[in-house]
Amino acid sequence: MRFSGKTVVVTGAASGIGAAAAKLFASEGGTVFAADINEDMGRAVCTEGEGDLRFVHCDVSDTASIKALMDQAAAETGGIDSVFNNAAAGGARPPIHEIEPGEWDSSMNLILRSVAFCIRYAVPHMMDRKGASFVNVSSVAAIGPGYSPTAYAVAKCGVLHLTKCAAADLAQFGIRVNAVQPGFINTNIFTSSLEIPEEMKTMAKAVIAQASSNAQPVARGGQPIDIANAVAFLASDAASFVTGTSMLVDGGLTIGPRHSWDADGEGPLEALMKMEEQVKAAAASENAA
Ligand code: NAI
Repeated sequence: MRFSGKTVVVTGAASGIGAAAAKLFASEGGTVFAADINEDMGRAVCTEGEGDLRFVHCDVSDTASIKALMDQAAAETGGIDSVFNNAAAGGARPPIHEIEPGEWDSSMNLILRSVAFCIRYAVPHMMDRKGASFVNVSSVAAIGPGYSPTAYAVAKCGVLHLTKCAAADLAQFGIRVNAVQPGFINTNIFTSSLEIPEEMKTMAKAVIAQASSNAQPVARGGQPIDIANAVAFLASDAASFVTGTSMLVDGGLTIGPRHSWDADGEGPLEALMKMEEQVKAAAASENAA
């Protein structure tokens, strides 16, 4: 019961990683404010979960909505101990030479600015809480290109830097700030970001589940609870000496190129060795002739 007597705010709690984290915090004694724009799914998570889960409608791209969420959590419980800044979506997909200003701005607002203002409006309610902390969701996409559209990758990189800067700003109040960087986690984010028609979503989810199961060295698909477990650790007192850092939870996705960990994968060295065999075989058959 690591969160007994604690108030925890989780954004994007209606689905995927946020839903798993909200349920985990509540199952370990926390009073959880499960915030999302999706009211039906958010309320369902609060009903399914064990413990004290309270749905709050909040759009994290709207600062007034964020402030109302933090004020409500503090008014109902007396303060806030942890905030899990998780809500986001895939953002705009065009590459940098095609993206429109509005697409860029809405991606930055949803993915990066939201985290800044969730911190901004929660801190006044956290200053006198011992062991208070934030956990922000970044991504493997912050490591380099190739994991997501450009706007998303840049915003998630911003989340990492914001994590460090906020950890520095808030150290004087004893508030810790950390991030998690999930790899390929099987959630609704792919079908919602890819605009898959409703009638094809079940099929698309099966394809995504299959793809996620062999995308990385750990030979299974990444699940929301894998990230929730890391988030709960970072938010708990067991991580009281951890601030301004980020935890990769990616099943080894970013260890190296596929051929470095997949025995069946072929990298440049294997290709060269194959070529050597072919040259030797050709020379042998020439000699024989
Ligand atoms: P998801 O799509 O299952 O859940 C996201 C939740 O955020 C949804 O409930 C959605 O309604 C909510 N949301 C979206 N816009 C919102 C807004 N303006 N205000 C409030 N709530 C809003 O996605 P998932 O995968 O659980 O994503 C959670 C976090 O993890 C996101 O920050 C995502 O970028 C990040 N992430 C996910 C990865 C993955 O492979 N699934 C990989 C790396 C990072």
